[in-house]
Amino acid sequence: MLAVTVSDDPCMTPDLKPLRSQRWFAATDMRGFAHRQRMQQMGLRREDVLGRPIVAIINTWSDLSPCHAHLRERAEAVKRGVLLAGGMPFELPAMSLGEVMVKPTTMLYRNFLAMETEELLRSLPIDGAVLLGGCDKTTPGLLMGAISMGLPAIFCPAGPMLNDRYRGQQVGAGTHTRKFWDDLQAGLVSEAEWVKLESRMTRSPGTCNTMGTASTMTAMTEALGLTLPDASCIPAMDAAHPRMAADCGERIVGMIGEQLTPARILSRGAFLNAAVVQMALGGSTNAVVHIIAMARRAGVALELEDLDAVARRVPVIANLFPSGDRLMEDLHYAGGVPALMNRLRNELSLDELTVSGQTLRQQIDGREVIDDEVIRPLDRPVSAERALAVLRGNLAPQGAVIKPSAANAQLLQHRGPALVFDSQPQMLAAMADPDLAVDENTVLVLRNAGPVGAPGMPEWGNLPIPKRLLERGVRDMLRLSDARMSGTHFGTCVLHVSPESAVGGPLALVQTGDQIELDVPARRLHLHVADDELARRRAAWTAPAPTFARGWTQLYQQHVTQAHEGCDLDFLQGTAPTPEPPIY
Ligand code: FES
Repeated sequence: MLAVTVSDDPCMTPDLKPLRSQRWFAATDMRGFAHRQRMQQMGLRREDVLGRPIVAIINTWSDLSPCHAHLRERAEAVKRGVLLAGGMPFELPAMSLGEVMVKPTTMLYRNFLAMETEELLRSLPIDGAVLLGGCDKTTPGLLMGAISMGLPAIFCPAGPMLNDRYRGQQVGAGTHTRKFWDDLQAGLVSEAEWVKLESRMTRSPGTCNTMGTASTMTAMTEALGLTLPDASCIPAMDAAHPRMAADCGERIVGMIGEQLTPARILSRGAFLNAAVVQMALGGSTNAVVHIIAMARRAGVALELEDLDAVARRVPVIANLFPSGDRLMEDLHYAGGVPALMNRLRNELSLDELTVSGQTLRQQIDGREVIDDEVIRPLDRPVSAERALAVLRGNLAPQGAVIKPSAANAQLLQHRGPALVFDSQPQMLAAMADPDLAVDENTVLVLRNAGPVGAPGMPEWGNLPIPKRLLERGVRDMLRLSDARMSGTHFGTCVLHVSPESAVGGPLALVQTGDQIELDVPARRLHLHVADDELARRRAAWTAPAPTFARGWTQLYQQHVTQAHEGCDLDFLQGTAPTPEPPIY
C-alpha cells in the first residue's frame, strides 16, 4: 500500500491554492451549477466532484491498437486506485498510435498526441493525470503533452507481451519478423511456414517484447522517475500489471496533494539517467529523437553529444534482442529496471526525485540482479560495441546516429560506392530486381525520408538487402538515410542524417557512384566529393514541392524541427506558459 499525502482540505493544494478542478465544480455562480448539474446527468452525486481531486486517465486504447488491447481493463484498475485514495477518476480517450497499423508512420502523429494530451488536460477540470500508453510513440507523445501542461502526472506502461518460442528458439516481435522475411526471400523458409509464422511472435496484448522503441521508452520513463518502480517490465498479462495500474491511481491522488509536477522531477540529471538506461539496454535509436524532444519541453538542455558521451561510458549489459538473445519477460524476472540501475549506480544521479515521492537512490537500494545472464556484470557486456554513436561530417553537419551493438562490426569502418534512391517505392522495386548492379560493398542510400520529406521520418532506415545478395547469403550492408529504424531491427544503418535532404541537407547532393566513408570509432561520416563539385550540385538543386496542401500533415511539414532537435513542432517546444482557460 502506498502512502497518500493530501492537504487537510481536499479542495486545496499544500500551499492553500484551490485545486484547479474546483474552479469548475465549487463555483457558486450559474456556470458552477451547470458543471455540477452535468455530472449529475451522468448519475454522479454532487459530492463525487465537489471537494475531491479530479484525475484524468488518458487512455490510448483502441480496437486497432493490439499492444494496448488490455488498456480499457487497466483503466478500471486505475479508477479503483483513485477512488480508494479519495479522488474522482474520469477516463479520456486519446489518439491511439498502434505502431504497425497507423500509416504512413506513427511518428507523424506523435506531436498530434502530445498536443491532444496537453489540450485535454488544459480544457477540462483536471487536477492530475494517469497516462496509459506504451506502444512506441504513445509514450513520448503522452509525456510531452503532460510536461507542457505541468499538472501532476504518472505514466502507467502497457507492459510487454508474453515471450514466444518457435522450434525451440526464443522469438520476438519485430526482430524475428524481419529475420524470417529475409529467410523467405532467400528460399530458407517455405510459403506454408511463412503463413504459419503469422500466429507466432506476438502471443498476447502488450508491447513488443524485444528491446524495441516501446521497451526502450517505457524503461527510460521509469529511469526519468515518471513511473512507479518496476512498472516498465511487468508483462502486460501478469496479475501484477493491474495491481501496478491500481497503484498508479492511488499514487496520483497523493501527487496532486503534494503538487508533485513533472517540472519537479525532470532535471538534467534525470534525463542523463534515462540515457544511461537506454545505453545499458541497447535501446532503440528512436529514443534519441524522443528524449531530446521531451527535454526541450521540460526546458532542459540536452544535445546529441550528451548522449554520445553516455554511450561511450556505458556498455550494453541487458541481453535482449536485437543486441542479445532474451526478451522483456526475462528482464522482469532478472530484477527489472531497478536492478539494472542498481548495477549502474556509479553512472547515475541518485538524488533525483520520482513520482513515488522517493529519490532514485531509495528506489534502487537493495535491488539485486537475479540472473546475470540477462543483466550482465559491467565487465561482461553483451556486445563489444555500444548502443549509440553520434556521427558528424560533410554528409551530416548536424549529426547522424548508428547503433553499433546491433550492427555488423566489420562494417563499422567501411568505404564504398553509393547507390541512391529518391523514394521508398523506387528503392523497394530495385531491391527485388535480380539484375540490380550492387554488391556487398555498396552503400545503399535513401533520401526524402526525413521529418519534412517523407513526411514524418518513418522507419525506412533499415533498407532491405537486395534479393540477389540475400540469395548469396549476404545479411547486412551499410545503409544510410534521413529516416529512422525500428528498434527491434538489426543492421548497419546510419540514421537521422541531419539536416535532411528535403530541406537541402548534403544528403540531397549525393549521386550514385560517389564514395561514402563511415568510421564509427572516429564518429565520422564523409562523402568523398570535392567541395567545388558539391557547390555546383547545390546550385542546381531545387527543393521538392510541398506534398500536402491541407490538414495536419501540412501543418506538420511547415513546423516540424529536424532530427537533432527532436522533431517537435517549433511552436510546441519550450516552457512558455499557456494561460488557464477562463470559466464563464
Ligand atoms: Fe506496439 Fe511494437 S508494435 S510496441
